[in-house]
This record gives sequence, structure tokens and C-alpha cells, in this order.
Amino acid sequence: MACLEILGLLSLAGSIFDFMQKHEILISLILFRELEKSLKLSYSTDLNYQGVTGFNLVNNCFLVSNMNSAESHVIMDSMQKLSMQELRKGLHGRFCLVPFTNIILEPDGKVGICRNKGDNFPIGNIKDQPLDEIWNIRNSEKAQQWRREFLEDKISICENEVNYRKCHLEYGFNTLAQDAELSIVQQQKILRLTANLNGQCNLRCPFCTVWQSPNGNYNDENFWNPAKSSLFPFLKEIDMLGGEPFIQADTYRLIQEVSLVNPDCHWFFTTNLAWSLSLKVSEILDKIKIQILTVSIDSLTPAIYEQLRPPAKLNKILNHLEKLIEYNKKRIRPFQIAINSLVMKETWQELPEFLRFTQKYQLAFNPILLRTPQESSLMSFTHQQKREVLDFYLKEIPKNHFKLITPILIPLIESLSPIDRAYYFSAINS
Ligand SMILES: C[S@@+](CC[C@H](N)C(=O)[O-])C[C@H]1O[C@@H](n2cnc3c(N)ncnc32)[C@H](O)[C@@H]1O
Ligand code: SF4
Repeated sequence: MACLEILGLLSLAGSIFDFMQKHEILISLILFRELEKSLKLSYSTDLNYQGVTGFNLVNNCFLVSNMNSAESHVIMDSMQKLSMQELRKGLHGRFCLVPFTNIILEPDGKVGICRNKGDNFPIGNIKDQPLDEIWNIRNSEKAQQWRREFLEDKISICENEVNYRKCHLEYGFNTLAQDAELSIVQQQKILRLTANLNGQCNLRCPFCTVWQSPNGNYNDENFWNPAKSSLFPFLKEIDMLGGEPFIQADTYRLIQEVSLVNPDCHWFFTTNLAWSLSLKVSEILDKIKIQILTVSIDSLTPAIYEQLRPPAKLNKILNHLEKLIEYNKKRIRPFQIAINSLVMKETWQELPEFLRFTQKYQLAFNPILLRTPQESSLMSFTHQQKREVLDFYLKEIPKNHFKLITPILIPLIESLSPIDRAYYFSAINS
């Protein structure tokens, strides 16, 4: 739809909204449904390749916008050569590469395709099938169906993710576009490994269940020995999250074993940073090409941080972050540091502060809307409370930063009544 038509609809929405407020009359919702459809469409289109050097990283996030273009270009140059448009050339706007590139290994032995579908969507189990048969697992009927839907642009399995979360447009999920085999049945080797080998963690976050997951399911026989020849030499990327990767011996073993046969592999880490960067660890990290290291900090208020991430203390974590930033500056090949932050009932008011904080230190920012446990989620607020949250963001966050927080704004707005949806979509688009 042409921009002018959308602008026309937006201002029409504003006028109708004012009119309704003044006169308290019921009007047909049909117009709003149409308006909503067109707004959603325009919004997705805007989002698709917004700010090519801006759209990046792990969770729908953008590079902080106070970074000037030269600075962000340096980071992008050191991280990757191609822009999103170049990478995704020839792919339709809803296409996701993950089912064509990735496997995820979960602590309980489940083998899946995508970290964002969680372990509710396994395609096999390492305890039942040896690693060398993972290609067969990858070509299971379920996995083939997944790829078919993307190839034919008839998306059902990832309908919500593609429409709302937009994880298929995360930079980190698109870096292998040039190498992926875009066919239903996969013949080539696995390119990307998400390695959640153990649940072991040094924290006990109340919203997280991962630390309760088992440990030690990946042994020499079912993983390490076969992986040496059939997996490690061919991987282009390894993504490590949790439990806490940096306190697990398997992480250092993986770094050592992969580096021996595949020193060019690119690494991604997500960490609580409740550990201090020792000389020994930095020497190990010096050996690998890290693309993005994401630090999870859910609150910048000490008392709330400590309630959400026991037994860690915020001041210690911030010291560790400072040390990490200093270490990164000295690396031959610096990596991007990002902040993951869970937005929930305890933390939603801190979003403006997080934007200032990440800008100040030139960190990428991934705000994540917590959905489970439901009682902590903003999604379980009443409509009135959700409107208060949105009004607060509209007031406290500069308009040019709304694109940084779309993973929070969009689901909240989507869950409101049609009239409120039209109003808030209009407000964030204006
Ligand atoms: C499970 S943690 C593992 C890595 C590391 N221990 C950490 O905390 O960053 C990976 C990411 O999942 C997020 N996470 C944990 N529980 C979650 C939940 N219930 N909903 C959404 N994200 C969650 C964490 O905040 C973190 O950013
Ligand atoms: S630090 Fe990470 S893995 Fe550990 S309990 Fe917290 S979110 Fe879960």
C-alpha cells in the first residue's frame, strides 16, 4: 500500500479516535480491522530491512542508535562483510534460514532445529540416535515440512514467530545465507550448532527452568567422538547459551576440540557474567573468533536485580562487564557485546534506563518480553495496565528508539482491543 494512503489512514484513525472519545458513540469495527490490517502490513514492511547496519544480532535488536555510522560500520566490518539486504537477496521476506542451517542440542538430549521454538519442538534425541544419524533426524518428515513451508511461503509452524517476533530477520540467523542448502532434503553437513549441552548454572533465576535441566548427557560415545569427524570440522557457527556456558567444563572442551580442526568457526555466547574474566579464560577466548557475546542483565536496580538473579550482585556484574569491555578493546578481532534484558512486571519501568545505559557503553540491546511464568509477564496485565505501560514508553522513550523495543511494543499492542491497537500503532508510526 502506498505511503500516502497509509498516512491518510493513520490521520483518519487519530481523528476517529478523538471523535469517539468526545462523543462516546459506538462505531463499526470493520474500518478499524481494515486499518489494523494495513498498519500491520506497513509496519512489517518498514521493519523488514530497517537500517541495514542497524538491524542486528540475536533477538530482534538494533545497534544502539547514538553510534555514528562510521563507528557502526567498523563494528559491522569486523563482524561480517555483508548487509542484511545482500545476505537475504533472493529470499522472500518471510523466509527463515534456521531450518536449513541449524541444529540445537538440549541438556536432556533432545535435538531440535531452532532455539526460539524451545525444546517443545524436538526432532530427535541423542540418547536414541547416534550423532552420525543426526542428518537422518534433520531429514525427518517434521523437519522437511518445516523447510517446505518456508520454500513455498506457506508458513504455519513458525507463523507467530515470522509475523510477530520476526526472529527470521535477526542478523545472527542470516549470516549463513550464502552457504545454506535451500532444499527440503538436506545433503550437506550441519553448518550451525546451538550447543546447550548442560543445565549447570551458578544462578537460580526464578523465571528460568534451564538450571534444573540435567547434565552429562553428552558423552564420548554419543557426542564427542563422532562429532570430531562428522560435525566439528564443518561447522561455520557455534551458539552457546545455557545453563551458564562459562562455568561448564564442556564449553572449554568444545572450544579446544573445535579450534583444533576448525579454527575459523564463528562463536556466539549468552552469559550471566556472574564470573570474572581470568587471564586463563581470556587466553582461551583469544584463540577463537567470537561474533557476539550477549550478557543477560534484567535490571539496573540492585535490589530488583538481586531478586531476579540470585545469588548474583549487580555491582559485581557491572564490574565484570567493564572488564569484558576492556578485554574486548585489546582483542585483535573485537566482538559485539549485547545486553539481553527480560521485560516483565518487575522491570518494565527500566526500559528507558536500559536504552540510555546501552547507548552510553555502545552495546547492542535485546529487550525480551517475558511470557513465562505467566504471572510475571506483562501479557497478563489488564488492558488498562497495558495501556499505562505503553503510555509510559510513549512519554519516556524518544520516538526514534521505538524500533529498538518493537519486541515489547508489538505484542502488547496486538493484545489490546481493535480501537486501542489502531491508536497505539498510529502513535508509534507517527
Ligand atoms: C537460559 S539463559 C542461559 C545463558 C546464561 N545463563 C544467561 O543467563 O544469560 C539464556 C537467556 O534466556 C533468557 N531466559 C531465561 N528464562 C527465560 C524466560 N522464562 N523467558 C524468556 N527468556 C528467558 C535469559 O535471560 C538469558 O538471556
Ligand atoms: S543465569 Fe541463565 S541459565 Fe542460570 S538460572 Fe539465570 S537465566 Fe537460567
